[in-house]
Amino acid sequence: MRFTSLVTAALGAAFFCASAPVLAQAAEPPPKAVTCTTCHGPQGNSILPQVPALAGQTARYMYLQLRDFQEGRRTDPLMSTMVKDLTRDEMRELAAYFASQKHVALKFQPDPEKAKLGKAKADETLCTMCHLGGFLGQNEIPRVAGQSYDYILKQLRDFKHRVRTNDAGNMTSVANTLSETDIENLAHYLAGL
Ligand code: HEC
Ligand code: HEC
Repeated sequence: MRFTSLVTAALGAAFFCASAPVLAQAAEPPPKAVTCTTCHGPQGNSILPQVPALAGQTARYMYLQLRDFQEGRRTDPLMSTMVKDLTRDEMRELAAYFASQKHVALKFQPDPEKAKLGKAKADETLCTMCHLGGFLGQNEIPRVAGQSYDYILKQLRDFKHRVRTNDAGNMTSVANTLSETDIENLAHYLAGL
């Protein structure tokens, strides 16, 4: 057992359980993670409305998005410049690190009526066939549960208006069937999960 894990184990046993995951998560972020957390928040828990949370997102999805940003298949004025010098290995390490961090729920208060309509729309459109129950995601399909309201709104609009086209067309065809009101209702539902 390495020294750091011994210390973590000892501290974890000595303090309340809540201290252990915090210490474990703080261990060994890849060197470039500090750049990312200036926007994406501590351990990838973003508090900026337009910036997505990375904590608890699937590693495979994040790796693919980083590659897409680097190769220009997905673009964003803030994010695109961040990936210029990343190697594939650094992308994998960063994706694995943020995927292993605990997602902390934002204090979003959904409008209950809109959230209810959003859930009905999600059920009708079979979103969870891909995104899984609770929208927790799997492999290349992202977790959307508890993502920020503004970010979800922007992505669904971007897919619908073909601003974001880096997926194989799955989300474009789904978003095509959604009205602006559906998108708002879905964002209330999903941000509140
Ligand atoms: C200057 C702010 C900023 C910095 C620094 C930054 N990002 Fe981002 N990132 C963003 C924004 C904004 C988006 C959302 C873009 C959009 O709306 O499509 C994003 C999107 C992403 C996504 C896609 C997430 C999803 O759910 O689709 C990943 C993965 C990501 N960033 C990882 C990183 C990593 C890794 C770093 C560090 C190397 C980093 N970011 C640094 C602002 C930033
Ligand atoms: C056929 C499978 C499929 C279905 C059905 C589907 N999605 Fe997706 N969704 C995806 C994939 C794949 C991506 C990632 C796209 C990419 O690689 O850029 C995605 C991305 C997203 C994103 C962007 C997440 C992020 O972090 O940027 C949101 C939001 C989303 N989906 C919401 C929904 C909602 C709401 C529904 C139902 C109305 C839905 N999806 C139905 C496969 C699906």
